[in-house]
Amino acid sequence: MGGTGAVPRPRTGTTPAQWVNPLRDERDKRLPRIAGPCSLVIFGVTGDLARKKLLPAVYDLANRGLLPPGFTLVGFARRDWTDEHFAAVVHDSVRDHARTEFREVVWERLAEGIRFVQGSFDDEAAFDELAKTLAAVDEQRGTGGNHGFYLAIPPAAFPTVCEQLSRSGLARPGEDQWRRVVIEKPFGHDLESAKELNDVVNAVVPEDSVFRIDHYLGKETVQNILALRFANQLFDPIWNSHYVDHVQITMAEDIGLGGRAGYYDGIGAARDVIQNHLLQLLAFTAMEEPVSFEPSELQAEKIKVLSATRLAQPLDETTARGQYSGGWQGGRKVVGLLDEEGFSKDSTTETFAAITLEVDTRRWAGVPFYLRTGKRLGRRVTEIAVVFKRAPHLPFDQTMTEELGQNALVIRVQPDEGVTMRFGSKVPGSSMEVRDVNMDFSYGQAFTESSPEAYERLILDVLLGEPSLFPANAEVELSWKILDPVLDHWAASGRPEPYEAGTWGPPSAQEMLRRSGREWRRP
Ligand code: BG6
Repeated sequence: MGGTGAVPRPRTGTTPAQWVNPLRDERDKRLPRIAGPCSLVIFGVTGDLARKKLLPAVYDLANRGLLPPGFTLVGFARRDWTDEHFAAVVHDSVRDHARTEFREVVWERLAEGIRFVQGSFDDEAAFDELAKTLAAVDEQRGTGGNHGFYLAIPPAAFPTVCEQLSRSGLARPGEDQWRRVVIEKPFGHDLESAKELNDVVNAVVPEDSVFRIDHYLGKETVQNILALRFANQLFDPIWNSHYVDHVQITMAEDIGLGGRAGYYDGIGAARDVIQNHLLQLLAFTAMEEPVSFEPSELQAEKIKVLSATRLAQPLDETTARGQYSGGWQGGRKVVGLLDEEGFSKDSTTETFAAITLEVDTRRWAGVPFYLRTGKRLGRRVTEIAVVFKRAPHLPFDQTMTEELGQNALVIRVQPDEGVTMRFGSKVPGSSMEVRDVNMDFSYGQAFTESSPEAYERLILDVLLGEPSLFPANAEVELSWKILDPVLDHWAASGRPEPYEAGTWGPPSAQEMLRRSGREWRRP
């Protein structure tokens, strides 16, 4: 692995002049990004997140040569598994879900460092066993006493696991060693519980060793917001209330919630993704330029903008929530939430949420930020659309510009990653008629390299101790502070409005924008 990866040969028929060594640049740039000696312990290793995302991401990192030679992966769970059985589970999940191609040689090296410890979270003996296992891998595999603990578990279990890590001495690094704790959202269910949770975690692990995962920050297209805004001269002059009419941030999913009742019922769309992913997208879009990309500088700007962000009032008019009912999606009949397995028949959990935010800064005063998310919507798409004001004067007959909309810059986060600029252009012909056209940048066409999965990037950053892409405690608490009033408001206002699966949410969501003469985009 590392620097020894074989250089692919040119394909037959390719002339040397056309052949560019695809590994060269990647290898040069990745040198400082190879993790040092360490292990990663995953709690909740039998869950969906581990199987579909975490284990494949570990393999992908190994395949890209970014893990150290003695890297060790330790699974911790209640099942009565051996190391070999766990290795077989990892193998299957890599085969099914890894991004990069399966290479036997990479797999064999990774498999040498796979261990399993059986136990429940309140089992002291199991944590003592874990401590022994890690001491042994330090000895046998040179992991140097550097261990990451990934809590891919329900939040109710965080306190117990943190206490066990503390009691068994696992949270305490020796000299020149590190111990880091990675926690998955939800970080609480409101401001108060988030504070309690942070107290529990911080009592055991210092803040600079806590890595809170918001996997949206691991996405290339999300990091590209910073490149787009701060590496170019083109956009900044118009990135403010003089030119921007409003911003729409959409995270739409076509999937339903079958199989996720345990997590989702009682949580709902706003807590699930607005509190974290969408507010982080807003922060990247609205923040000022950081002094540098040092983690503390970046966090400082996000904290500033989140501190200035608040819900527009009155909440009855500026927010909307819904719950999907049965309908058709992709040619398939699907059931409504109340008929999904595990959801209570009178569940008031919202599967669609939309809110209006205002950012009280000189740059953004008066510009609404509309955020919406939902399950079982028309299609899967996440995008940020910065919609510009209309030109103050159009020197055309009205008939010539009837089909001219507002200019927009759309950051396409997924699935068709890229950026679109929408502007008016003359329709070819003998008369002057102006219509909207799109200018597109697409990752698929512009770059030959494929984007790493968010979890690849974030796991590597944990192992490197690089916290830039992890929300700080203060950001998490500010996000709850923004959202809490609408959660209280909804809790006191009855059932969410039904919307048919496969549509774009409840009528109140359309109303919410129409009141100010605007429309949601149809991505
Ligand atoms: C998770 C939410 O954080 O993000 C899920 O809990 C959601 O409800 C998922 O489906 C979407 O992630 P992605 O990367 O597919 O957009």
